[in-house]
Amino acid sequence: MIKQYDQSFVLETAHTSYIFRLLPTKQLEHLYYGKKLTVSSSKDIEPLIEQHAFAPGNTNIYDEEHPEYSLEDMRLEAGMIGKGDIRVPFVEIIHADGSSTNDFLYHDAKINTSHTPIKSLPYALNNKEELEVTLVDETYAVTLKLYYNVYYEYDIITRRAVVINNNKDDIRLNRLMSTQLDFLNHNFVFTTFNGSWTNEMNRHDHAVESGLYINASFTGGSSSRANPFVMLSDKHTTEDEGDVYGLNLIYSGNHYEAVEVGSYGKMRFVSGINPQNFSFLLEEGEIFESPEAVMSFSAHGFNDMSMHMHSFINDCIVRGTWQHQERPVLLNSWEANYFKINEQKLIKQAKAAKKAGIELFVMDDGWFGKRDNDQSSLGDWQYDPKKLPHGLKHLVDKINAIGLDFGIWVEPEMVNVDSDLYRNHPNWTIEIPGCNQSEGRHQRILDLCNPEVVDYLTDVMSELFSSANIKYVKWDMNRTFSDIYSPYLPANRQQEVFHRYIIGLYNLLNHLTHSFPDILFEGCASGGNRFDLGMLCFMPQIWASDNTDAICRYKIQNSYSYGYPLSAISNHVSSTPNHQTLRTTSLDTRYNVACFGILGYETNLADLSNEALEEIAKQIAHYKAHRKIFQFGTFYRVNQELHNWCVVSDDQEEAVGMILQELVLPNHQFHQFIARGLKKDIHYHFFNEEKQYNVKLFGDLINTASPVHIKQDSLAHQVVAKFVKMPGEVEDMHTTGSILMHGVCLKQAFSANGYNEQVRYFQDFASRLYFIEKESEKQ
Ligand code: DGJ
Repeated sequence: MIKQYDQSFVLETAHTSYIFRLLPTKQLEHLYYGKKLTVSSSKDIEPLIEQHAFAPGNTNIYDEEHPEYSLEDMRLEAGMIGKGDIRVPFVEIIHADGSSTNDFLYHDAKINTSHTPIKSLPYALNNKEELEVTLVDETYAVTLKLYYNVYYEYDIITRRAVVINNNKDDIRLNRLMSTQLDFLNHNFVFTTFNGSWTNEMNRHDHAVESGLYINASFTGGSSSRANPFVMLSDKHTTEDEGDVYGLNLIYSGNHYEAVEVGSYGKMRFVSGINPQNFSFLLEEGEIFESPEAVMSFSAHGFNDMSMHMHSFINDCIVRGTWQHQERPVLLNSWEANYFKINEQKLIKQAKAAKKAGIELFVMDDGWFGKRDNDQSSLGDWQYDPKKLPHGLKHLVDKINAIGLDFGIWVEPEMVNVDSDLYRNHPNWTIEIPGCNQSEGRHQRILDLCNPEVVDYLTDVMSELFSSANIKYVKWDMNRTFSDIYSPYLPANRQQEVFHRYIIGLYNLLNHLTHSFPDILFEGCASGGNRFDLGMLCFMPQIWASDNTDAICRYKIQNSYSYGYPLSAISNHVSSTPNHQTLRTTSLDTRYNVACFGILGYETNLADLSNEALEEIAKQIAHYKAHRKIFQFGTFYRVNQELHNWCVVSDDQEEAVGMILQELVLPNHQFHQFIARGLKKDIHYHFFNEEKQYNVKLFGDLINTASPVHIKQDSLAHQVVAKFVKMPGEVEDMHTTGSILMHGVCLKQAFSANGYNEQVRYFQDFASRLYFIEKESEKQ
């Protein structure tokens, strides 16, 4: 709901309020964002207004009529340069006379009944309430528009800005943020998620004390180095209690989130396009649109804030055929084969996949050009006749005949110098003509600033996607930018390359996703190097990391879940020892982590033992039975000694939970599983899946029970292992939701004092899934 009381604006969602007003000096003063406040007149708002009598010493007053106002000490909706505010600015423009002072003052405001389209970038869908505030810098004839969209039931407010040059002279836009939040104090923890390839989303909590802290990416993508999703919370906030702001950007390029404590203890947060190496020339009448920032506040802890983000992303960011549709279980060919694929091998693996219950077979890298390693062929999107002698369509038909859908890997934004595409179009890449170029993974980036390149890729990809029955596309992007230069753009527009590239990418994706509405697109950029809301506007799911080690992966997925729903997070069960860490974990644990989100497998199923394949078949059957919950359920992180997740159906009648232990602590046998999101007063059945364990897992302890001595790993040991299985513990209880949410005391874990079916075999990296189902009325 958007209300105006005299010169104040009140934006309300179901549980939050956002309030600002017009200062007597005509800037916009930020008054409040947080827990919902009751406001029914401008008088009600008065207590939120700072009562300035004199500006602080050694500051500049805005003008003589207002000696009380120094913009350095005001909370503003958009900070500018040159009129007293010396904090990190919202906007920075260099005018034709060389000045960078801007004085944007209120001109008018209107309420729109839908989201004003953003022409160059994707934006959130389904809104009916937008506030559009226009500010004008009269001296330089430049307009700054601020847009606020209110998503009432999601507790989400989005903000963005537009700059319009009405001057006959060119201006240079050096910075335009998407949102700014000025707080009265700086008692916050700023949480960022940083990392690198195979090590995405490490959570860092920074206590805000002084100065400027920046979370930003400069890779050309949103990056694994610093995800654009950040949080501001109270230092006492937990998963279930306390104040937290979740903040994100609908953008896939270089981004910037900064918090600055000003001289008077107030704190400013801004987020938007990274201003580093960014400068946009605006000629007369030209406009520049910032990406849309997404903001949510909860007074009930991180989980509640995450839920707002999750529902908003599922309903207003992800779009198209697959938006709310359950996603298939896939087998990806990469780690089983790397580049060494051929029709025969793929068909063999697909047959094993079918037996296990897989639904979609994905042929990853290696199928095109002469792609025997990563040094050639990107750009030449024709199948390699040595690997696929009967062609792509023939392979797809065969896979379909086995009973599987077919998906394909592409990396359209890239080219190898050793490719026909590069040989034919050496000026189509981001590179500085005549200079030595730096490369990543032996590849160069196609110049998507150039519309001819975008059109070419649209045609080539359209041809490929329609050449066979392709139901899924994995869209990869495996390098960061260097030699940042577009041969297409003139010298005075080279600082536009990063942003224009992203606009070109969005145009390409827009065409393709509209032309192929039924293809399921999965984003990927060396794993999670472009996991962001911009990509999610085109691709409903993203490969979260090239690291499939279950222990690393638990942390990576856990961190993504703060800002992104399970439906966006694609996970695979892979081989052991793991290809990234060489760590050995059980098949159970690999599945138990991967099933929270979109499940796939990435291992040579044709090489597995019958026993392992049967186990995988059970996992897949289990996943299918609970798929809706795993992909679209309400997800909770639970803080306790063990890692603990719980995901609950919309009607709260069913849930699946997981515990995971990193390392065994001797004599710590009494663990709990804690549920969340159930109805307190109804009865549920709580149970686990009965397992049997290989006696060899207990090593030479077998001799404590065996009447004859058995040498470890001997033939005798193998034979016994074939026939003697160790019983797993059974959990089976009937109780109320409130007790399950208090915590279930589980069977004691093994701790060197005996083993039977009352004991939980719970070694390093062990995990369990628990099932919770509402009891039928008569029980
Ligand atoms: C990087 C991706 O993240 C992997 O999953 C795989 O597709 C390779 N690229 C293929 O080159």
